[in-house]
Amino acid sequence: MLKAIIFDLDGVITDTAAFHFIAWKKLGERLGIELTEAFNEELKGVDRTESLRRILALGNQEDSFSEEEKNELATEKNDFYVQLIQQITPSDILPGIARLLVELKEHQLKIALASASKNAPTILERLGLSESFDTIVDPTTLSKGKPDPEIFIKACEQLAIVPDEAIGVEDAYSGIQAINDAQMLSIGIGDPVTLSDADHTFPTTEELTFEKLMTIWQLHKK
Ligand code: G6P
Ligand code: MG
Repeated sequence: MLKAIIFDLDGVITDTAAFHFIAWKKLGERLGIELTEAFNEELKGVDRTESLRRILALGNQEDSFSEEEKNELATEKNDFYVQLIQQITPSDILPGIARLLVELKEHQLKIALASASKNAPTILERLGLSESFDTIVDPTTLSKGKPDPEIFIKACEQLAIVPDEAIGVEDAYSGIQAINDAQMLSIGIGDPVTLSDADHTFPTTEELTFEKLMTIWQLHKK
């Protein structure tokens, strides 16, 4: 029986990718590393430390900094990012999501957040959605990031359900791998080619309704 929907945040509930890009780009400029939008795509779903590692590798600067200096660089980016996300308001909830969260609650389904972002609680607060989630996985408690399934398995544990009773919703390739490896049904939001491993893909969040999720669930769980 379907008991819960577990959501990624960035690109599913709201679109923070542009803010991450502005903040990483600013740090990159200071270091003489040029970041393109195409490269930013590869950072979606990737945690802060690993994103910085990839950016430094792009500029051949991976070995130029000590661990302590890398932490300072990550903090510099985050301080700027935290300033940027202060402008988020409920109007930044992606289309259809607010309605879907209400529908899920009406049907007694549990709702969890499985995001790599340490800023997720602040963002939910800014969106006015803190009360809509039954549980949020704290990414600082995890030993591995997506594509490892740990974050989705943890979300199920926090909801006291098993992965076989949940659907995971993700916009990133690594996130779909994580959902699949957690043995959950996976829904991709975005390009069906990039997300071809998902059990089902919707082009945007607008198409995500309780009814469609139930139809997909019944098709796959028969
Ligand atoms: C999400 C985003 C990534 C971001 C990561 C960590 O997965 O898609 O772009 O790097 O969260 O976010 P944080 O807010 O903790 O730096
Ligand atoms: Mg995402």
